[in-house]
Amino acid sequence: MSLNILLLGKGGQVGWELQRALAPLGQLTALDFNTPGPVQAPELKADFSQPEQVAAIVRAVRPDVIVNAAAHTAVDKAESEPDLARAINATTPGLIAREAADLGALLVHYSTDYVFDGSGQAPRDESAATRPLSVYGQTKLEGEQLIQASGARHLIFRTSWVYAARGGNFAKTMLRLAGERDQLKVINDQIGAPTGADLLADVTAHAIRAVGRQPDLLGLYHLVAAGETSWYDYARFVIEWARAQGVVLKVAQEAVEAIPTSAYPTPAARPLNSRLSTKKVQEAFGLTLPHWQVGAERMLTEILGV
Ligand SMILES: NC(=O)c1ccc[n+]([C@@H]2O[C@H](COP(=O)([O-])OP(=O)(O)OC[C@H]3O[C@@H](n4cnc5c(N)ncnc54)[C@H](OP(=O)(O)O)[C@@H]3O)[C@@H](O)[C@H]2O)c1
Repeated sequence: MSLNILLLGKGGQVGWELQRALAPLGQLTALDFNTPGPVQAPELKADFSQPEQVAAIVRAVRPDVIVNAAAHTAVDKAESEPDLARAINATTPGLIAREAADLGALLVHYSTDYVFDGSGQAPRDESAATRPLSVYGQTKLEGEQLIQASGARHLIFRTSWVYAARGGNFAKTMLRLAGERDQLKVINDQIGAPTGADLLADVTAHAIRAVGRQPDLLGLYHLVAAGETSWYDYARFVIEWARAQGVVLKVAQEAVEAIPTSAYPTPAARPLNSRLSTKKVQEAFGLTLPHWQVGAERMLTEILGV
């Protein structure tokens, strides 16, 4: 069955990959807030700081499926603009969910490991207690709760450490700094799984099809690549990989120094333990999530053109 799909936040890391992954499922209307809408309606813009405007778009498009990839993801900036972060991460997704409930549409939404406080060493499953440390984490949690309370059929994917070949990312920053500097300091006490926007988009498309056949699969899932690393080990992996491909870098491998989070203060506190258990999503959807290095190598191949 061909679906009428509304994609919001089409220009973000995940939104960009969703444009590709959702296209074969049906008729896709992909919108952003700062670029023109589709050729037939270039004036259509979904600005999440204007909840009612976005709700009106949902009513006009009457989608079967809404995929929301828009978010206020500037974690440090959110500390000084909590009202805007709340509008984008919670109020507007909540209103979209109510429209979805009225239409009988499926809503797919993304959330984050930042809903947790990152204590301990064990991976958290979907039933673990939440305790956000930041405005970003708090508003993302509120968004989840509003969607869950709306009565809309929904899928929420909590993910972590998202990267894409397009736009800026941690690996690109490390490669640039490694080319410019003799020494690098990178945090080694935050542990998580770098997860490709392409993987998130592909699993989303798969899950939309699956819940169409099996509605009991709706709900909240943790979705990250397999394995784990620290930002420090991730940086070393990126630098070693690039050097092995013949990329000339200034920094010596031993000059990449591990530092604790406490040595790098930021406005927003970050969880130290970002490990998420993906048992539920793998079993429900019959998936095998690839190791994070698989996607990271693919991204590096793309950005370095090697
Ligand atoms: N990035 C991560 O590491 C990470 C980790 C865990 C979970 N997530 C979640 O994954 C999802 C996708 O994130 P992502 O990595 O693709 O983030 P992203 O690249 O920052 O994409 C978010 C998109 O939302 C847009 N946006 C900002 N303000 C908006 C507004 N007022 N109205 C409409 N759109 C607006 C952004 O535009 P501009 O770029 O122009 O501001 C951007 O295109 C989000 O729900 C995020 O919370 C991300």
